[in-house]
Amino acid sequence: MIQAKIAEILKSDQFLQEYHVQGWVRSFRSNRFIALNDGSTLKNLQCVIDFENTDEEIIKRINVGAAISVKGTLKESQGSQQREEIEVSEIEILGDANPEEVKLTILSPKKHSMEKLREQAHLRVRTNTFGAVMRVRSRLSFAVHKYFQDRNFFYVNTPIITGSDAEGAGEMFKVTAMDLKNPSKNEDGSINYKEDFFGKETNLTVSGQLEAETFALGLGQVYTFGPTFRAENSNTSRHLAEFWMIEPEVAFCDLDGNMDLAEDFIKYVLKYIIENCKEDLEFLAERQENEDKLKPKADRSDMNLLEKLNFVLENNFKRVSYTEAIEILKNSKPNKKKKFNYIIEEWGADLQSEHERYLVEKHFKCPVILFDYPANIKAFYMRLNEDGKTVRAMDILFPGIGEIVGGSQREERLDVLKEKMAELDIPEEELWWYLDTRKFGTCVHSGFGLGFERLVQFTTGMGNIRDVIPFPRTPQNAEF
Ligand code: 4AD
Ligand code: MG
Repeated sequence: MIQAKIAEILKSDQFLQEYHVQGWVRSFRSNRFIALNDGSTLKNLQCVIDFENTDEEIIKRINVGAAISVKGTLKESQGSQQREEIEVSEIEILGDANPEEVKLTILSPKKHSMEKLREQAHLRVRTNTFGAVMRVRSRLSFAVHKYFQDRNFFYVNTPIITGSDAEGAGEMFKVTAMDLKNPSKNEDGSINYKEDFFGKETNLTVSGQLEAETFALGLGQVYTFGPTFRAENSNTSRHLAEFWMIEPEVAFCDLDGNMDLAEDFIKYVLKYIIENCKEDLEFLAERQENEDKLKPKADRSDMNLLEKLNFVLENNFKRVSYTEAIEILKNSKPNKKKKFNYIIEEWGADLQSEHERYLVEKHFKCPVILFDYPANIKAFYMRLNEDGKTVRAMDILFPGIGEIVGGSQREERLDVLKEKMAELDIPEEELWWYLDTRKFGTCVHSGFGLGFERLVQFTTGMGNIRDVIPFPRTPQNAEF
C-alpha cells in the first residue's frame, strides 16, 4: 500500500498497485463514482465503490465537500473520461459535509461568480480556478527565490514596522500600541508618540528598498520578498492595500544593468511556470478564452494566455524614454480626440494608467520599459540626470496590467541627495542611517520593485488582483 497524492497517482503506470488517498469529494454519481480532489492537481481521481458491498450509512455520507480516506487498487478505467481509477476496497468518512449547507456555498457544483468566491475566500481554494491560481502562485514564488539564489543574490528580510516613509507618498498605515480613546498628548494637544511603544511614530512599510540599499552596500546584491502596505484609497482591479513585493538591489549597477536584470528575471520566472505548471496554465488559458467570449469584440485579446506568455519570453521589452513616450501620447488619436480622461498637454505630465495601457497595448504591442522620468513626479532617492530635470527611473509596463515594475538608479551623491530631501521637506534626522551609506563608501547602485500579485495576475490571466492573493485587503474589506 502506497500513501500518495493524486498528482502522483495520475502519473503512475503501476496498475494493480494498492494506494491510500485522502481528499475531498467533488462529486458522487450513480452511488458508485467519486470524483476525489486533494489539491495536489487540478484533476480529480475517479474512485469506484462497490455499493452492494458498502455500508449504506457510509454511502449516505459520501457528499460533495466531505473529507474521505480511500484505499484501493489502481486499475485502467473502463470509462472514456479518464485513464485510470481506484477500485475502492476500503472507504472512511473523515469529515462530513451536510448537503443542505453545502448547497448554500461555493462548494456546490455549479458556476459561481468571482465575487461570490471572494465572499467565501476560506472555501475558494477548493475550486478549480482558485486552486490553479494558488498552485501557480506558489511555484512562482519558488522561481523568484531560485532565480536570485542561483545568481548569488542574498535574501534579506527588511522590517515590516518602520519609522520612515520609503516612497515619501504618505500612504501609510500607522502602527501604535496606544489606547486610541485616551492617547498620551503633548501640551499643544498633539499626540505624544514618545509615550508610544517605540517612543516614536511608526507605520507599516510601503517598501523595503531603503533598508535593502544598506544591505546591497555590504553584501553586494540582495533581494527582499515580503509584504508591503499602502493606505491608498484605490479601488481598482490592480491595487491591494497589502501586497507582496520583490525588491532586488545591486551595488555597482547602473540603470541599464537594472533594466537588463528586470527583463531577464521576469522572463526566467515566466519560463519556469510555462515549464512547471502546464496543466494549470492550460486550464487558466481556456478559462480566460471563455471569459473573453463574453466581452465586446474590441476588448478581447488576440492571443490566448499561453501565447501571451510566450510572446513576452520571445520578444525584447521596448525601451523608451519618458520624453519619447510623451511625444507619442501627445500625437495619439485618443489624445487628439480627447478620449483620454487626462489629456497630455506637455512634458512633465504624470502618466495615468490609460496612457500606460495605450503605449503597451495599442502603440508598441509589447512590454515597455519607460525610463528617465521628470524628477518631480518620482521619489526622492532617484539619481538626477545631467539635464537637472529628469531622474534615472524606470517603470515596466505590461499588457493588461499596466505598471508591473518600478525602479531606479539611486542617488549615490550625498550632497545631491541632501538637497533633494530638503526640497521635499524630508527630515535628515529621520533618514540619518540612509544618508550614512552615502558617506561611507558610496557607489553607483540600482534596484527595482516588482508587485508579486501583478505578476501572478499576468501569469494566470486573472482580471482582478483580488483573485490572485489568498485573502485580499482592500478599502472597506479585511474579512478573514
Ligand atoms: O512603484 P512602486 O511604488 O516602487 C517602490 O515601492 C520602490 N521602492 C521599488 C524599488 O525600487 N525597490 O511599487 C513597485 C511595484 C509597482 O510597480 C507595482 O507592481 C506594485 O509594486 N504595487 C502594487 N501592487 C498591488 N497593489 C498596490 N497598491 C501596489 N502599489 C505598487
Ligand atoms: Mg511606481
